[in-house]
Amino acid sequence: MDKLLIKGGTCLNGSITISGAKNAALPILAGSLLASAPITVRNVPQLKDVATMITLLQSMGVIVTFDDRLDIEIDTTRVTDRRAPYELVKTMRASILVLGPLVARYGDAYVSLPGGCAIGARPVNLHVQGLQAMGAEVVVENGYIHAQAERLQGANIVLDTVTVTGTENLMMAAALADGETILENAAREPEVIDVANFLNSMGAQVSGAGTSTIRITGVTELAGAEHTVLPDRIETGTYLVGAAMTGGNVRLKNAATEHLDAVVLKLREAGASVQIGEQDIAIDMRGRRPESVDIRTTPYPGFPTDMQAQFCALNAVAEGVGTITETIFENRFQHVPELQRMGADIQIEGNMAVCRGVDKLTAAPVMATDLRASAGLVLAGLAAAGETLVDRIYHVDRGYERIEEKLRQLGAEIKRVPA
Ligand code: EPZ
Repeated sequence: MDKLLIKGGTCLNGSITISGAKNAALPILAGSLLASAPITVRNVPQLKDVATMITLLQSMGVIVTFDDRLDIEIDTTRVTDRRAPYELVKTMRASILVLGPLVARYGDAYVSLPGGCAIGARPVNLHVQGLQAMGAEVVVENGYIHAQAERLQGANIVLDTVTVTGTENLMMAAALADGETILENAAREPEVIDVANFLNSMGAQVSGAGTSTIRITGVTELAGAEHTVLPDRIETGTYLVGAAMTGGNVRLKNAATEHLDAVVLKLREAGASVQIGEQDIAIDMRGRRPESVDIRTTPYPGFPTDMQAQFCALNAVAEGVGTITETIFENRFQHVPELQRMGADIQIEGNMAVCRGVDKLTAAPVMATDLRASAGLVLAGLAAAGETLVDRIYHVDRGYERIEEKLRQLGAEIKRVPA
């Protein structure tokens, strides 16, 4: 397994370009199954999870053509197999996003349950219950969801937990249902809005995306379309935190400028000067050490759980004591023991981590456990004295395009060490 070797102590300075959002590209690629003509998706990030989704689609008979590095054409007019096998789904939970489109377009789907993952049990009961509310016959057995429907019927669905992919799956299913579907307590993430925009570009009738109530009036067919994936706000936030931790001065181009209010608020509280432009976002720490901040993760527009590990790393080297409360997932502090090995003073009390900043972390061999935990460890390595070796960085490659190349562009001393 590849590792990343990071020599800490360098301020991040300079500019890089942010890639397309993983958590928009994945549902949009899955949603291409709804179309009766080829789809072109632009600004697709080159990530392991995206490659896995493309492999899954190809296993169904979907023809995927790569126009160039970031643009792909997807032809789903000859889908032959409506199954998402465990072998693929276990490597990427977001495979569940083919469930809604398959039932809606083909009336039949056989999708492996994703199972738990490092950060929690992550059930998909709300995805299933929503489809049942729309009239699908669903049998869950032998680790698979088998869903069938002559044609889905519009329904009023109240989601008892805010679920991002649950909202996306049901929105996509409802696009071809007969009648109107109302999703209450829907997720409000920008990626949900991007999926809704994509669906509407194919001729769907979706309104209210970005609010807690989404209305979808089903149509009988969805046409081909072109869609450009929005910038990745979590990648943007991750590099902003890297600059804040190293006292740097960084400009991020083609960034998610209007989707990071909660994160920018905390960076400013930590003492950063943050300038937000039309397409760019710049942070300047003027060489100063960040101050500790208190974080509580909640659904969008609150502070994103996907930025929690990165702010744990920031608090580990900040001035003062900061608390991190995780309210979305039950086991999302796995980066903490690894940070403690680097000298971090963090105590976990239930779903809260109390971080007392230290002047300097010390380099150590550490191990990534999940995507965002690994990002937090990479950031800690940038700020630590000495050389940190981060193992199992396939976790990083799932969600960060060319991370060592982008960090080197910002002056970091980092290289990939083959297994
Ligand atoms: C999406 O996961 C993201 N993934 C995650 O990003 C992100 O952390 C998460 O939303 C929360 O923002 C993608 O978009 C591909 P949820 P998702 O359903 O949709 C419970 C990353 O790092 N729940 O919003 O799987 C669930 O257990 C990844 O890029 C149910 O109980 O998350 C959790 O406690 C990690 N039943 C809460 O809802 C369900 O049927 C929120 O989960 C569905 C969810």
